[in-house]
Amino acid sequence: MSLYENLLLNLENGVLIITINRADKLNALNIETIREIKAAIQQVYDDSAVKGAIFTGAGEKAFVAGADISEISELSDVNARSFAERGQEVFSMIERCTKPVIAAVNGFALGGGCELAMACHMRVASEGARFGQPEVNLGLIPGYGGTQRLTQLIGKGKAMELMMTADMIGANEAKALGLVNHVVPAVELMPKCMEIMNKIVSKAPLAIGLVIDCVNAVYDKDENGYQTEANSFARCCSSQDFIEGTNAFLEKRKPVFKGA
Ligand code: COA
Repeated sequence: MSLYENLLLNLENGVLIITINRADKLNALNIETIREIKAAIQQVYDDSAVKGAIFTGAGEKAFVAGADISEISELSDVNARSFAERGQEVFSMIERCTKPVIAAVNGFALGGGCELAMACHMRVASEGARFGQPEVNLGLIPGYGGTQRLTQLIGKGKAMELMMTADMIGANEAKALGLVNHVVPAVELMPKCMEIMNKIVSKAPLAIGLVIDCVNAVYDKDENGYQTEANSFARCCSSQDFIEGTNAFLEKRKPVFKGA
């Protein structure tokens, strides 16, 4: 039996494509799906054959239309905190993954779906994608890191507006706000993500992981990001890939990186 009931996993040229597969519920994230996302991202951490990951949603309509409202409706104050913390932990794993993770947003990215996309290192959207944090419609607030990451990505005023009005925005507006990196026609969504991914995985993997660490350090109150950067820079300089990268430049050839 497959480890995954609600995900489809497909390894393509070293890139793990993780598809949330509950199209009849617009790929809403129930607790089981969160558990499976944790297992899938753990595989990205652990499996040396996996160089990066792309999250997307099954079907034509949705990336992820939020946490599963039928489960949320059963929450009490006793279990709601651990519900949020569990989701936050999984999404932090995505954010802190030292291999690149891209969200291919193919439709509605609402609530927990927008939060999942924001936990990825970057977002590419199809032209018809729609973004929003509509939790206040349900008497709720975002619980999987949305209040923090949306503010980091688009700034305080716009984040306040989106979360307080529950308005949905289209892909082009999301791009103008800095929520999305690229907007492409639906048929070009996965090719565009693969193009970006292939570019990234051709670079020195240690350096890529350290870029991710250093950028994340900006948002960690307990970390001195400049110190993290200097330490990481020094670490790169003691790597074989640094020797290979600089030698290849001087010898006018393409580098062959080994990730060490
Ligand atoms: N949780 C559970 N089920 C969901 C869901 C969610 N977040 N979002 C959609 N679904 C289900 C619907 O209940 C429906 O199931 P059914 O066919 O068994 O009745 C199915 O997915 C299709 O959704 P539907 O609402 O019929 O599609 P639509 O095109 O009319 O509307 C949306 C699309 C995205 C606007 C609408 O589904 C919606 O508002 N979803 C909730 C978004 C939300 O509030 N997310 C934050 C949750 S915290």
